[in-house]
Amino acid sequence: MNRYEWKLNVRKPVMTHLPIPYPKVIYGKNSRFKILDLLKKDSIHKICIFSSHTVYQSGALDKILEGLMDKDVVLVHKIPSDPGTTCIDQLTEKAQGCQAVLAIGGGSVIDAAKAVCGCLAEQKECRDIFGTMKIHHKPPLLIACPTTAGTGSEGTVAAVITDDQSHLKRQILDLKLVPDYAVLDSQLTMSLPASITAQTAMDALTHALEAYVSTYATKTTDRYATLAIRLILDKLPYLLEDGQNERLRQDLLIAAYFAGLAFTRAYVGYVHAYAHAIGARYHIPHGQAVAVLLPYVMEYYVPVCDEKLSSLAIQCGIGQKDKDSAANAMELIDAIHTLNKKGRIPSYVENFPEEDIPIVIKQAFRECHGNYPVPRYYNEQAARNLLEKVCAR
Ligand SMILES: [Fe+2]
Repeated sequence: MNRYEWKLNVRKPVMTHLPIPYPKVIYGKNSRFKILDLLKKDSIHKICIFSSHTVYQSGALDKILEGLMDKDVVLVHKIPSDPGTTCIDQLTEKAQGCQAVLAIGGGSVIDAAKAVCGCLAEQKECRDIFGTMKIHHKPPLLIACPTTAGTGSEGTVAAVITDDQSHLKRQILDLKLVPDYAVLDSQLTMSLPASITAQTAMDALTHALEAYVSTYATKTTDRYATLAIRLILDKLPYLLEDGQNERLRQDLLIAAYFAGLAFTRAYVGYVHAYAHAIGARYHIPHGQAVAVLLPYVMEYYVPVCDEKLSSLAIQCGIGQKDKDSAANAMELIDAIHTLNKKGRIPSYVENFPEEDIPIVIKQAFRECHGNYPVPRYYNEQAARNLLEKVCAR
């Protein structure tokens, strides 16, 4: 056992028994309008609504804003992607005194809302609540309404914010950051182009698979992860052909939500660590970076996870009971490659030059080792072999 495994094993009994709360889930076509019933309560006077400009322009907020005419509403519809600490502090200033925060957007919007809720609860600046369990007071009511089926942030304990001083992405982790409500409204994802649909779904698939092979996985997280993986493998190919299929859109939102429930309890692993290092340096969309890496990292895990991956392959209808477990695991990995091709995700990262491999390895190891409960460790050479497969050719 290496020192990282030892550290993670010591923490395991606590981390796998944390009483992580669940949001109340509202789902279905146009389910976002049910938000009005939650916000019309007498105890709520001031409401903050965060969204992206695209969501605002689409008219998705119109009915909600009309329904809240008698309330004090602060609307911010230009939340940038990957919000920074300065942005969060400005938003917190605007949100002072609100009893509810509604986030309608992708992962960046929901994470910004979570961070603002944390800052409001503590009356502190964003940099002061980075880290684990820094929120001691009750935040305002938080309603998260995802407009992509990917990050699963509507069900997780984390908010990822860029530290404007160090330019690094940092996390705020707290049980109090799990939104009170997750609203999974398929209408909000209907207009997503196939490329974004594919990348965000592959991010959700990565959350589920990394949670599934995690040494912190439990029967509960395995159930959530398996459900998400089955839905994505079954439905995404059809959704990429028929983006206007409401039922498939709803299924993908449910998959991303359950993948979120799985990884917020069992964590992610090397795929995310390498993808964060590559994404930050070369501005590669997160979903694209994880999708490229996912099949190769899973293949590296086969010698230690063959039986578990085989069982998953059988449950997904890809593997066969009478087949060798490693062969079934490889069938599952082939299915990921096929899904990447179907989603037109490139097989390598265009802007990532081979000479930068050592820097990426260093950064990824720093993020992963001692923090992510991975089933098999990479050494420098194994990491180099992996990254040579995905760097620019
Ligand atoms: Fe992710």
